[in-house]
Amino acid sequence: MFSKEVYIQRRIKLKENLKEGLVLFLGNTDVPMNYPSNTYQWRQDSNFLYFFGLDYQDMAAIIDLDNDTEHIYGDDVGLGDIIWMGPQITTAEKAESCGVQHHHPYSKLQETLASAMSSNRKIHFLPPYRAENKILLDQLLGVKPADQKQRASVELIKAIVELRSIKEEQEIAELEKGMETAWLMHTTAMKMAKPGIYEQEIAGVIEGIAISAGGKLSFPAILTTRGETLHNHYHGNLMKKGDLMLMDAGAETSMHYGTDHTRTTPVGGKFSTRQKEIYQIVLDAQVKAIEAIKPGETNLNVHLLASKVIASGLKELGLMKGDINEAVKQGAHAMFMPHGLGHMMGLDVHDMEDMGEDYVGYDEKVKRSDIFGTAFLRLGRAYQPGFVLTVEPGCYFIPALIDQWREQGKFKDFINYEKVEQYKGFGGIRIEDDVLVTGKGCKIMGKPIPKTIDEVEAFMQ
Ligand code: GLY
Ligand code: MN
Ligand code: MN
Repeated sequence: MFSKEVYIQRRIKLKENLKEGLVLFLGNTDVPMNYPSNTYQWRQDSNFLYFFGLDYQDMAAIIDLDNDTEHIYGDDVGLGDIIWMGPQITTAEKAESCGVQHHHPYSKLQETLASAMSSNRKIHFLPPYRAENKILLDQLLGVKPADQKQRASVELIKAIVELRSIKEEQEIAELEKGMETAWLMHTTAMKMAKPGIYEQEIAGVIEGIAISAGGKLSFPAILTTRGETLHNHYHGNLMKKGDLMLMDAGAETSMHYGTDHTRTTPVGGKFSTRQKEIYQIVLDAQVKAIEAIKPGETNLNVHLLASKVIASGLKELGLMKGDINEAVKQGAHAMFMPHGLGHMMGLDVHDMEDMGEDYVGYDEKVKRSDIFGTAFLRLGRAYQPGFVLTVEPGCYFIPALIDQWREQGKFKDFINYEKVEQYKGFGGIRIEDDVLVTGKGCKIMGKPIPKTIDEVEAFMQ
């Protein structure tokens, strides 16, 4: 945990942005994997961590805005549990550790909420993303799971997004710790990318590195020679000379801050000419995007800038044609990059996405596009100092997408299908770094992971 004062201050700031009623926070519970006592890896809810820092199962909290009181709910365990789990700190100690004055047994939660509802008090809650908490919220407030997203407190979501979007000094230090692990994960994988190794052998090692550092992966690793599948979690392919290994993986620290990097590495250490050409286009897009990030600029503009760099590069290779500005405006480039440039990152690798992507990534000034590709951009709004986000352009040759668009005669003026056919089987390239927006521009976080063609080839020798 950070110091008690950090959590007290965060709650003070949250209260300043909310008017009245009760604010309910549900922590997470263990989730069964295949029978009740064999559970998925434990992960606390990120908002619970942010405001209370309590990394324990089966807790809830209420901030009473009208009476300016704070309450933690949880049950102390008995001897039966202590035999299996070891000694546990009490709910009183948990409340004390994050500066909350009042603590109660869990059963009191229902009573407090029932009493608030009978007096028609406003109860702010967040949209639950786990089935267990959806059922619990229905029991506590009588709001059916299907209605919870709609009835969640927009006022609360907006107040939290405003706070969590700007990373504090201690959060940046924690993210930097994660970056050290990320560097080791990626450089180790690059060195292991030799013909004759299975993807899963490398996947096992990099997950081990994350665990050895006291945390875990920040999301299931994407490590594949079939990088044209954007979120490919299959690790059963044998690597051959000529393959590209796309590894998109991150570490989560013991304090639950995540990292997210992608490198695309030639198996055996040397890119082919064709691979170099596509790689350089993606790299140019990534470097130019990073150069363009500064407070006030929008991620939507920078996404479009990166898309134009990719489209121009592909035009030079004869894969695209026509007016590049028009091609990007209409979304033709999305055949090669059908995803957004990046997203916020912090306690969640896609930070705060549980509360609704549009609340995190868009605002009154920047609205989400409805064009295929650009519509998938998770973060569109203007940067502010303290934002941490990913910059991850890519270029992919997805046979099913190529076939469908060709059949539909889509963007015939911008895409040279004859030439694109020759790239089926190429795979995909993505390059991803994490940046911190500063007063004037941005800074790439962590120790540099080899990225240019020369750096990658030299590193792999
Ligand atoms: N979690 C995959 C990515 O956003 O890069
Ligand atoms: Mn990633
Ligand atoms: Mn990412």
